[in-house]
Amino acid sequence: MTAASARLSGKRILVTGGGSGINFAIVERFIAEGASVSVGDLNPGAADAVTALGARFTSVDVADADAIAGWVATEAAALGGLDVVVAGAGYELVATATELTVEQWDHHMAVMLRGPFVTFKAALPVMIEGGGGSLIALGSNLSFAGLTGFTSYVAAKHGLIGLVRVLAIDYAAHGVRVNALCPGPTDTPLIRRQLVGVPDPDGLLARWESDTLLGRLGRPDEIAAGALFLASDESSFVTGSSLLVDGGYTAR
Ligand SMILES: NC(=O)c1ccc[n+]([C@@H]2O[C@H](COP(=O)([O-])OP(=O)(O)OC[C@H]3O[C@@H](n4cnc5c(N)ncnc54)[C@H](O)[C@@H]3O)[C@@H](O)[C@H]2O)c1
Repeated sequence: MTAASARLSGKRILVTGGGSGINFAIVERFIAEGASVSVGDLNPGAADAVTALGARFTSVDVADADAIAGWVATEAAALGGLDVVVAGAGYELVATATELTVEQWDHHMAVMLRGPFVTFKAALPVMIEGGGGSLIALGSNLSFAGLTGFTSYVAAKHGLIGLVRVLAIDYAAHGVRVNALCPGPTDTPLIRRQLVGVPDPDGLLARWESDTLLGRLGRPDEIAAGALFLASDESSFVTGSSLLVDGGYTAR
């Protein structure tokens, strides 16, 4: 990628959950497009892979609001400002309402819904000071559809759409755009973990594949292409919106 063709040249970007899967592919693409990127991820084991891409890495838990506020402040200072923040950290939890404990629900919400809120809350004053930017929340096809057993996951991902809309309303005048990037089933460690220990993993995988109109899982780089659009100035008239990159999952 030459500097002239780089679509994120000079952009200063934070990515939570950038140590794996979709967010890792986002970091890789953003760096290839000329951005300076800082990753915050719970898993310190991801540090080497992330820094090898040329990004900064901090081990931080998005469920810890104070730690996230400190991380955002430190990284914004190190990068010299903030243009884009991707709130992507998340994990799967499959339990029906009668199986799910209140403690499990609370922790899942603290990561999946409160996590993006505290991340954006910390970033907004810096972005506003700098004249604006782009906030991107990792939603899901399950921001628009239910799925058996995904009680807290579906609730949190639907909630993110509401959060994106109200932030878009409140901060448009400050030049801050806020959108959700909503992948369909994508081949990452998150989805592979759900195949472990089930009676018929091949059958379950085939069902997920046939749940999309395109008959396959998405690739992380295909989701990163959507993130690139929302992060770049090419999406300058897009806010309060949801970009579905789901292989047609939600079309039926
Ligand atoms: N894979 C899919 O099919 C799919 C579909 C739709 C949406 N998503 C969403 O995309 C995002 C990325 O998912 P993925 O499939 O790449 O998963 P993944 O498990 O490969 O990566 C998730 C990353 O988030 C980090 N993380 C988890 N909890 C954290 C916390 N509390 N604080 C900081 N970091 C934390 C993990 O360490 C990991 O590096 C998630 O928000 C997920 O809900 C995934």
